[in-house]
Amino acid sequence: MQHSLYSHYLNSLQTHEQSAQALWNGCGFLDKFQIGSCKYAVKLSKVPDDLKHVNIRQTPFSLQRKVRSYVKEQYFYTHYVESLPMTCHTPKVIELHEFDGTFVTILEDFEQRGFHNKADADSGDIERTLKWLAGFHANWLRVGGGESSFGLLGYGNYWHLKTRPDEFEKMPASSLKSAAHAINEKLDAVTFKTLIHGDAKLANFAFNDTSVIGYDFQHTGIGLGLSDVMLLFTTVLDSEQLSSCASNLLDIYFTELREQIKNQNVTIEVDLLENEWRESWCFIWADFHRFLAGWKPEHPKINQYMKTQTQLALCKL
Ligand SMILES: Nc1ncnc2c1ncn2[C@@H]1O[C@H](COP(=O)(O)OP(=O)(O)OP(=O)(O)O)[C@@H](O)[C@H]1O
Ligand SMILES: [Mg+2]
Repeated sequence: MQHSLYSHYLNSLQTHEQSAQALWNGCGFLDKFQIGSCKYAVKLSKVPDDLKHVNIRQTPFSLQRKVRSYVKEQYFYTHYVESLPMTCHTPKVIELHEFDGTFVTILEDFEQRGFHNKADADSGDIERTLKWLAGFHANWLRVGGGESSFGLLGYGNYWHLKTRPDEFEKMPASSLKSAAHAINEKLDAVTFKTLIHGDAKLANFAFNDTSVIGYDFQHTGIGLGLSDVMLLFTTVLDSEQLSSCASNLLDIYFTELREQIKNQNVTIEVDLLENEWRESWCFIWADFHRFLAGWKPEHPKINQYMKTQTQLALCKL
């Protein structure tokens, strides 16, 4: 690791105070440093053996899932990020290290390129994020495929049923719980799949005047593009806005997906894809509802729109 930027960063800590932002639940920090006029972000993560979470007791399984999320992110940055089209901005990768369960990811600081996080999104921000997602999804579209389609990335989404046995057990008995495996199988059986971001919440995007940058690829893997769209919606629209705007925003997403499929010369039967993914919309919501109902049943994301979609899914099974 000699001569690396990471050594430079460690040395700089002797003369500069660390101004780090804590990562999820004490799993490390995100710090920034500068060399000349270049600014960098260093994400340093290590899952503590005694990780505690307010909503659910941690088990060896859940600790392993968290470690795996850092492995996945570095794997994505090593093997996949470079094939994205130019329009789908991501931070430039500078250095990746892993030693004794510690993951060091050094990226360019996207604020240097004028991108900033936003606490609230307006309709323009939502549309631009949908375009980013459409570009990302178009890049890896395929017919069929399973857990091993994208190397060790496996399934996308942090709520995938296979990765959430503890939350499933904690979930009270209900028709959704009884249908959970059938819903998962339905989603797994779709023809059209791609690599999804897996945690496409507003906090994992940053904005400048004209475009969007996406990052945090800890839950990237195979799935349906619309599950990223669903999660984005849960962070920028309330139940009423979902009822009035979701349909129009879905049209915008599909228009952009078609455009990106054309631009990227992807050979896919796009009408069939759109039909299939639209048919899956209620199952995607029900699947996320299943996770929330086990993880944090009072979560405000379990709103009327989500409940309606779940009912639709249960009727359609
Ligand atoms: N390349 C970067 N340039 C500038 N800021 C960054 C960069 N990467 C991450 N950040 C900032 O650090 C925060 C945490 O990074 P990231 O989302 O990758 O980690 P995380 O494990 O999801 O952390 P958390 O769950 O606490 O959000 C981001 O929300 C963003 O504000
Ligand atoms: Mg994040």
